[in-house]
Amino acid sequence: MTRLFDVQAEPAAIAFAAEVIRQGGLVAFPTETVYGLGANALDADAVAKVFSAKQRLLSDPLIVHVCLPDHKQDVFSWLTKQEVIGALSAQQEMIACKLASAFWPGPLTLVLPRGERIPPIVTAGLDRVAVRIPNHPIALELLRRSNVPIAAPSANRFGHVSPTTARHVLDDLAGRIDVVLDGGPTPIGIESTVVDVIETPPRLLRPGGLVRADIEALIGPLGHQPAHEDDDRAAQPSPGLLSRHYAPRAELRLARTTAELIEMRRQLITQGLSVGVLITDPEEVDYDTLSPAFALGRDMQSVARNLYAGLRTLDSAGVDVILIREVEAHGLGEAVADRLRRGARR
Ligand code: TXA
Ligand code: MG
Repeated sequence: MTRLFDVQAEPAAIAFAAEVIRQGGLVAFPTETVYGLGANALDADAVAKVFSAKQRLLSDPLIVHVCLPDHKQDVFSWLTKQEVIGALSAQQEMIACKLASAFWPGPLTLVLPRGERIPPIVTAGLDRVAVRIPNHPIALELLRRSNVPIAAPSANRFGHVSPTTARHVLDDLAGRIDVVLDGGPTPIGIESTVVDVIETPPRLLRPGGLVRADIEALIGPLGHQPAHEDDDRAAQPSPGLLSRHYAPRAELRLARTTAELIEMRRQLITQGLSVGVLITDPEEVDYDTLSPAFALGRDMQSVARNLYAGLRTLDSAGVDVILIREVEAHGLGEAVADRLRRGARR
């Protein structure tokens, strides 16, 4: 059975959930990006349950979430001492420290050498581990109280879009996990930015909630993604780069312009298909004529925050095809465009 707690009404639920983590159970919790499905990262059996609850392939590594130690210690020497991460070179440490002091807690995940206490199942056997400090009071309190690092992928069924509300988590995982901590909708709505700092220069593995320009302003240009994103899993430096990820059930199609979107919709309907529309340009369209439609908002923050809810809503309306206008892959739009591209790939 899955127990759902509204944390605002029942703050003591966090202490309960922390105990569930310590006992090897599974807890879904809000972060500033999306909801995560957490287990004690030091407990291989608990982590194995995350994979089976999500039906996630064991070749897809998890992010380890940590909180800052109470005593004002340097976070990386502390993580090294805890054997969450392995030793860093002077260069790696300098880059990691710059990024962490600027952006942690926050929507940035750093890929670092794996420490001895992190079981290989967490990293899918890789000698690298992804680590982040989330910027959400519930996530941080859960980490503090459980007093272990928490391995947590997004709390959705494998391949489905990430959950941005507790309702989304239950839709995918009710009955398969122990606890859901409901902390309301997640403020950023798109996953963290993943940067491999073992590489020189550091490489962007997944665009996300922290925009590239903010990172590059601090440490210079990030390395390029590999040329062949569509290659098979074995060739993937990060399984998050798998082309078909973040997909709704309905077929997602991208239009270049609003006019093209309206024309695509007309043609699909002529073919007898039902069509839902995600609206990013409310001033250009008559909302009512496109029903079922879901307005994401006009600025990129709103689009990112509402995108997954929009995809889920239109999916559950049972449409065959979801249409959206392409977004400019700039700023937060880089992550949104990335998810749309992957979602649209068949
Ligand atoms: O915002 C987020 O990152 C959310 C919240 C819950 O923190 N988590 C999340 O987890 O999106 P998940 O499992 O859905 O995505 C993890 C990403 C994937 O792209 C995965 O390939 C990459 O991080 N990753 C994890 N460990 C890695 C590793 N050792 N090396 C390279 N990439 C790794
Ligand atoms: Mg995910």
